[in-house]
Amino acid sequence: MRIAIITVSDKGSRGERADTAGPAIREIMEAKGAEAVSYEIVPDEREVIEDRLRKLADECAADIIFTTGGTGFSPRDATPEATLAVIEREAPGIPEAMRAASLTITPHAMLSRAVAGIRKRTLIVNMPGSEKAVRESLAVIIPALPHAVEILTGEGGDCANQKIENNI
Ligand code: MTE
Repeated sequence: MRIAIITVSDKGSRGERADTAGPAIREIMEAKGAEAVSYEIVPDEREVIEDRLRKLADECAADIIFTTGGTGFSPRDATPEATLAVIEREAPGIPEAMRAASLTITPHAMLSRAVAGIRKRTLIVNMPGSEKAVRESLAVIIPALPHAVEILTGEGGDCANQKIENNI
Protein backbone atom coordinates (compact mmCIF):
# COMPACT_ATOMS: atom_id res chain seq x y z
CA MET A 1 0.00 0.00 0.00
CA ARG A 2 1.51 3.32 -1.11
CA ILE A 3 0.43 6.38 0.80
CA ALA A 4 0.86 10.13 0.34
CA ILE A 5 0.49 12.62 3.17
CA ILE A 6 -0.57 16.24 2.85
CA THR A 7 -0.56 18.38 5.96
CA VAL A 8 -2.79 21.40 5.46
CA SER A 9 -1.70 24.26 7.67
CA ASP A 10 -0.95 27.93 7.06
CA LYS A 11 1.48 28.08 9.96
CA GLY A 12 3.06 24.75 9.14
CA SER A 13 3.63 25.76 5.52
CA ARG A 14 5.39 28.95 6.69
CA GLY A 15 7.58 26.98 9.08
CA GLU A 16 5.97 28.67 12.11
CA ARG A 17 4.66 25.42 13.59
CA ALA A 18 6.22 21.96 13.63
CA ASP A 19 3.97 19.38 12.04
CA THR A 20 3.57 16.28 14.18
CA ALA A 21 0.31 15.02 12.62
CA GLY A 22 1.79 14.25 9.18
CA PRO A 23 4.77 12.34 10.60
CA ALA A 24 2.36 10.44 12.91
CA ILE A 25 0.41 9.21 9.88
CA ARG A 26 3.65 8.09 8.27
CA GLU A 27 4.84 6.31 11.41
CA ILE A 28 1.53 4.52 12.00
CA MET A 29 1.06 3.47 8.38
CA GLU A 30 4.67 2.35 7.91
CA ALA A 31 4.29 0.20 11.01
CA LYS A 32 1.40 -1.47 9.15
CA GLY A 33 3.60 -2.13 6.13
CA ALA A 34 2.62 0.84 3.98
CA GLU A 35 5.16 2.75 1.89
CA ALA A 36 5.07 6.54 2.26
CA VAL A 37 5.85 7.98 -1.17
CA SER A 38 5.12 11.64 -0.56
CA TYR A 39 4.84 14.09 2.33
CA GLU A 40 4.27 17.81 2.05
CA ILE A 41 2.85 20.76 3.96
CA VAL A 42 0.57 23.15 2.08
CA PRO A 43 -1.30 26.28 3.19
CA ASP A 44 -5.08 26.39 3.73
CA GLU A 45 -5.63 27.41 0.11
CA ARG A 46 -8.36 25.49 -1.66
CA GLU A 47 -6.73 25.71 -5.11
CA VAL A 48 -3.36 24.53 -3.82
CA ILE A 49 -4.94 21.56 -2.03
CA GLU A 50 -6.98 20.66 -5.12
CA ASP A 51 -3.91 20.85 -7.37
CA ARG A 52 -1.89 18.54 -5.15
CA LEU A 53 -4.73 16.03 -4.76
CA ARG A 54 -5.33 15.98 -8.54
CA LYS A 55 -1.66 15.58 -9.36
CA LEU A 56 -1.02 12.78 -6.87
CA ALA A 57 -4.16 10.89 -7.92
CA ASP A 58 -3.72 11.39 -11.66
CA GLU A 59 -0.08 10.28 -11.55
CA CYS A 60 -1.15 7.17 -9.64
CA ALA A 61 1.41 8.23 -7.06
CA ALA A 62 -0.38 6.66 -4.11
CA ASP A 63 -3.20 4.26 -3.30
CA ILE A 64 -4.33 6.46 -0.43
CA ILE A 65 -3.79 10.19 0.08
CA PHE A 66 -4.22 11.25 3.69
CA THR A 67 -4.77 14.91 4.41
CA THR A 68 -4.56 16.27 7.92
CA GLY A 69 -5.91 19.65 8.96
CA GLY A 70 -8.26 22.26 7.61
CA THR A 71 -11.45 20.31 8.36
CA GLY A 72 -12.87 22.55 11.06
CA PHE A 73 -15.00 25.69 11.19
CA SER A 74 -12.32 28.35 10.76
CA PRO A 75 -12.96 30.61 7.76
CA ARG A 76 -9.65 29.35 6.29
CA ASP A 77 -10.56 25.65 6.63
CA ALA A 78 -11.14 24.41 3.08
CA THR A 79 -9.79 20.85 2.92
CA PRO A 80 -13.23 19.16 2.62
CA GLU A 81 -14.28 21.58 -0.13
CA ALA A 82 -11.03 20.96 -2.05
CA THR A 83 -11.49 17.21 -1.66
CA LEU A 84 -15.12 17.26 -2.79
CA ALA A 85 -14.05 19.25 -5.86
CA VAL A 86 -11.61 16.55 -7.03
CA ILE A 87 -13.23 13.25 -6.06
CA GLU A 88 -15.49 11.34 -8.41
CA ARG A 89 -17.23 9.23 -5.76
CA GLU A 90 -17.70 9.82 -2.04
CA ALA A 91 -16.78 7.21 0.58
CA PRO A 92 -18.92 8.49 3.47
CA GLY A 93 -18.46 5.41 5.64
CA ILE A 94 -14.89 6.41 6.40
CA PRO A 95 -15.54 9.83 7.99
CA GLU A 96 -18.70 8.43 9.55
CA ALA A 97 -16.63 5.77 11.30
CA MET A 98 -13.97 8.28 12.37
CA ARG A 99 -16.51 10.68 13.83
CA ALA A 100 -18.59 7.97 15.51
CA ALA A 101 -15.57 6.50 17.28
CA SER A 102 -14.06 9.90 18.04
CA LEU A 103 -17.29 11.10 19.63
CA THR A 104 -16.76 8.52 22.36
CA ILE A 105 -13.51 10.37 23.13
CA THR A 106 -14.45 14.04 22.66
CA PRO A 107 -17.61 15.95 21.69
CA HIS A 108 -15.31 18.16 19.60
CA ALA A 109 -15.17 15.29 17.09
CA MET A 110 -18.44 16.59 15.64
CA LEU A 111 -16.61 19.75 14.61
CA SER A 112 -14.58 17.98 11.95
CA ARG A 113 -16.12 18.27 8.47
CA ALA A 114 -13.73 15.62 7.08
CA VAL A 115 -14.77 13.77 3.92
CA ALA A 116 -13.34 10.84 1.98
CA GLY A 117 -13.69 9.79 -1.62
CA ILE A 118 -12.21 8.25 -4.73
CA ARG A 119 -10.49 9.84 -7.69
CA LYS A 120 -9.55 7.27 -10.33
CA ARG A 121 -7.71 4.54 -8.39
CA THR A 122 -6.85 6.68 -5.38
CA LEU A 123 -8.69 6.96 -2.08
CA ILE A 124 -8.49 10.39 -0.45
CA VAL A 125 -9.14 10.60 3.29
CA ASN A 126 -9.36 13.84 5.28
CA MET A 127 -8.40 13.81 8.93
CA PRO A 128 -8.39 16.55 11.55
CA GLY A 129 -5.19 18.46 12.16
CA SER A 130 -3.96 17.48 15.60
CA GLU A 131 -1.67 14.52 16.16
CA LYS A 132 -4.07 13.25 18.82
CA ALA A 133 -7.01 13.34 16.42
CA VAL A 134 -4.96 11.65 13.70
CA ARG A 135 -3.95 8.81 16.00
CA GLU A 136 -7.54 8.33 17.19
CA SER A 137 -9.03 8.54 13.70
CA LEU A 138 -6.51 6.29 11.95
CA ALA A 139 -6.94 3.57 14.57
CA VAL A 140 -10.60 3.26 13.55
CA ILE A 141 -10.16 3.03 9.80
CA ILE A 142 -6.91 1.07 9.49
CA PRO A 143 -8.61 -2.37 9.60
CA ALA A 144 -10.67 -1.52 6.49
CA LEU A 145 -7.91 0.10 4.40
CA PRO A 146 -6.24 -3.00 2.89
CA HIS A 147 -9.55 -4.26 1.54
CA ALA A 148 -10.42 -0.77 0.28
CA VAL A 149 -7.17 -0.57 -1.70
CA GLU A 150 -7.55 -4.15 -2.91
CA ILE A 151 -10.94 -3.39 -4.41
CA LEU A 152 -9.85 -0.03 -5.79
CA THR A 153 -6.69 -1.23 -7.49
CA GLY A 154 -7.24 -4.96 -7.80
CA GLU A 155 -8.46 -5.08 -11.37
CA GLY A 156 -5.25 -3.63 -12.79
CA GLY A 157 -5.92 -0.71 -15.09
CA ASP A 158 -4.24 2.63 -15.57
CA CYS A 159 -2.19 2.65 -12.39
CA ALA A 160 -0.96 -0.92 -12.57
CA ASN A 161 2.12 -0.28 -14.69
CA GLN A 162 3.02 3.27 -13.77
CA LYS A 163 6.09 4.16 -11.77
CA ILE A 164 6.58 7.53 -10.11
CA GLU A 165 9.43 9.28 -8.40
CA ASN A 166 9.12 9.21 -4.63
CA ASN A 167 9.70 12.53 -2.91
CA ILE A 168 10.52 10.99 0.43
N1 MTE B 1 -11.26 13.88 16.44
C1 MTE B 1 -10.60 13.15 17.35
N2 MTE B 1 -10.61 11.82 17.23
N3 MTE B 1 -9.91 13.71 18.37
C2 MTE B 1 -9.87 15.06 18.53
O1 MTE B 1 -9.20 15.52 19.47
N4 MTE B 1 -10.54 17.24 17.62
C3 MTE B 1 -11.65 17.95 17.00
C4 MTE B 1 -12.12 17.36 15.68
N5 MTE B 1 -11.91 15.94 15.59
C5 MTE B 1 -10.54 15.88 17.57
C6 MTE B 1 -11.24 15.22 16.53
C7 MTE B 1 -11.49 19.39 16.89
S1 MTE B 1 -11.10 20.20 18.34
C8 MTE B 1 -11.69 20.09 15.73
S2 MTE B 1 -11.75 21.78 15.73
C9 MTE B 1 -11.96 19.39 14.46
O2 MTE B 1 -11.56 18.01 14.56
C10 MTE B 1 -11.34 20.00 13.22
O3 MTE B 1 -9.94 19.98 13.28
P1 MTE B 1 -9.04 20.64 12.12
O4 MTE B 1 -9.57 22.00 11.85
O5 MTE B 1 -7.65 20.64 12.69
O6 MTE B 1 -9.13 19.77 10.90
